[in-house]
Amino acid sequence: MSQSVKIDEDGKLFQLGTDHLSYVFRVVGNGELEHLYFGPRIHDLDRAQGLFAREERKVTPTWEVRNEKLQPELLAFEYPPAGHGDFRTPAYEIVQGNGSRTSEFRYAGFRIDRGKQRLPGLPSSFDDDGDGAQTLVISLRDELIGCSIELCYTVFPHDDVLVRSSRVTNLGTSPVVVESSASLSLDLPDSKYDFVQLSGAWARENRLSRSRLHPGVQEIHSTRGASSHQHNPFFMLASPTTTEQSGTAIGVNLIYSGNFRDRIEVDHYGTTRVQVGINPDGFAWTLDPQASFQTPEAVLSMGLHGFNSLSEQLARFITRHVANPRFARSPRPIVINNWEATYFDFDQPKLLDIAGRAKDLGIELFVLDDGWFGHRDDATTSLGDWVPYSRKLPGGIDGLSGAIHDLGLQFGLWFEPEMVSMDSHVRRLHPDWLIGPPGRSLTLQRSQYVLDMSNSKVVDYLYDEMASLIRSARIDYIKWDMNRNITEAFGRTIPTDRQGEFPHRYILGVYDLYARLIKEFPDLLFESCASGGGRFDLGMMYYAPQAWTSDDTDAVERALTQYATSYGYPQSTMGAHVSEVPNHETGRVTSLATRGNIAFFGDLGYELDVSTADEEDLAGIRRQISWYKQYRNVLQYGKLARLVSPYEDDGNTMAWQITSLDGTVTIMSCLNILSRPNPPIQRIRLTDLDPNSQYAIKGKEGIYFGDELMNVGILIPQSFNPITHKGRGDFTTHLLVIERLDNGDHVSCARKQSQ
Ligand code: DGJ
Repeated sequence: MSQSVKIDEDGKLFQLGTDHLSYVFRVVGNGELEHLYFGPRIHDLDRAQGLFAREERKVTPTWEVRNEKLQPELLAFEYPPAGHGDFRTPAYEIVQGNGSRTSEFRYAGFRIDRGKQRLPGLPSSFDDDGDGAQTLVISLRDELIGCSIELCYTVFPHDDVLVRSSRVTNLGTSPVVVESSASLSLDLPDSKYDFVQLSGAWARENRLSRSRLHPGVQEIHSTRGASSHQHNPFFMLASPTTTEQSGTAIGVNLIYSGNFRDRIEVDHYGTTRVQVGINPDGFAWTLDPQASFQTPEAVLSMGLHGFNSLSEQLARFITRHVANPRFARSPRPIVINNWEATYFDFDQPKLLDIAGRAKDLGIELFVLDDGWFGHRDDATTSLGDWVPYSRKLPGGIDGLSGAIHDLGLQFGLWFEPEMVSMDSHVRRLHPDWLIGPPGRSLTLQRSQYVLDMSNSKVVDYLYDEMASLIRSARIDYIKWDMNRNITEAFGRTIPTDRQGEFPHRYILGVYDLYARLIKEFPDLLFESCASGGGRFDLGMMYYAPQAWTSDDTDAVERALTQYATSYGYPQSTMGAHVSEVPNHETGRVTSLATRGNIAFFGDLGYELDVSTADEEDLAGIRRQISWYKQYRNVLQYGKLARLVSPYEDDGNTMAWQITSLDGTVTIMSCLNILSRPNPPIQRIRLTDLDPNSQYAIKGKEGIYFGDELMNVGILIPQSFNPITHKGRGDFTTHLLVIERLDNGDHVSCARKQSQ
């Protein structure tokens, strides 16, 4: 029997184990699955099931099973059914021919698969390079309605991650309707948790929110057709005392980009039900005989040494088992994007001017953003007509891309495939390709409508348009934008009684388009974007390994967004650009150094007009780029640790560090937002250093042991020193590079001499 999945001799007790976690459930008398344990790794439970004795309670429904009494309200379910007296949220609801939604799925067997297969048509986890993943598939059967449910559990032992999904199959002779089907349901034995989640808005994505669980339902969700700026599908349940460095935190995410629901329900016995999956609101999927419905996958992990340990596990897992492997671990190019430099007002000479200067600064990839197609001079026109705008680009995309490559830069192009303008050929030719029920007025957002991606003809059209353009020019990168949400949800090719399938079918169409393009152009790097971080999720990252984190490039706002995003996503997923000041969203003026010191902790880019920038700024940018290239691998793929949270105390300070995987380099950045008079003394204590190794801080005197840097800490000077009159004042950052001087063997503990 394997290490990660163990089953007892009776075939009734299932124990999943990662290097540091255990997950256990069993089959009870009537064939239901009872969840027993999720937490730090424990011994095998074969003989310890007495620990899970249940007490009988009064005034609650009871199943009499042989000599056993099972009370649904008191059971921790593995995949809770509807209608039998567990009055919490069921994991699934299947409406049958007679209108009933009561079902009885009972244990029917299991199998173990080596590794992890990808899900067809959906983004999913994988184990391409043999990291020891194993998949347990549990079969449940409801004989009366003739349906089966397969619960899939993949154990990624070395990342301490479990991936779950379910698949309902109609084995009967008449259709049934799946009204909900969670990817993951988890009953925890208590409710002493903080709900930590990332909520926000456009240009203010992913702000950290932490609050105690309370009795009743609390949830985050989206009904917008995208995972949304408002709530990210990632969340954590942490012990109230958990900090960055200590305590436990459960992390949950969904590999999905459409309407989702993360629901947490605290019941009257003080237990907690966690449920994650497609949002049942507006969802109904008709299953014809022999058809199956596969849910997206949910990711479950637990950090045992604070939030930082959870983030590290998730970052490793996403990089190795979710993100497009062609790019997941390769250096991400430093880009220059023309959006904030020109908006719609550009022509080829202007672009080449920017690109030429950018090349001279060390930039590697030029991205032409919105406005290159149809006759698009503003946001009101031409979406859907992916034909170069000849007035701006007389030589077409091919001509521009050739000229950019001649400069020695790679070339990237913006698309917004899912959208259409009222003023476009495609809308005039195919008015029925727009989302919305016939006869209804359609709501505009940013002067545009949404194409019906549930219609395969639309997907074919977009594939043909995009692929022929990509074939005709050298394109190395695509920024795939999506600037509005779905209203009047309705697909004209979906039968009237199946409109509840529309939201999911829409996102399946998006995934299909991504998959087809990647198949034909495997070396094309995609960056996803939805007015910034409106679709910043693991579903997208499966195809597009990086995402435009936010339309707000202001360093202070970005610090808040990137800091919170880092709880659930690695640095390599976050597009981070230096833009001009005053910032276009906040009007704030920050120094170039501060803008760089924040953007360094992601995939660095520039989004300003370098052709008109002054010499001092250009020199600064050149220095930043050459510095970033030196440490790019650490900054994109190192081990991140958050040190001081801008969400705590007075919110004035943020500090984090990132350490190379071999431990030789640590880069620490500290932001002080406002300059305070006579402020409290500030020491930053590093982490993840070897206590007995010696380190030097680049550009500074002194040699320090790791334990000193971690326990004594480094004094951060005040933002403005009124005695020396030195310091930049508001929005000051300090960036330190700490290098390990020995190879970690500590042959001599005598302090080396300062070099
Ligand atoms: C929204 C994106 O987030 C921006 O970066 C830019 O690409 C615009 N759309 C273009 O319309």
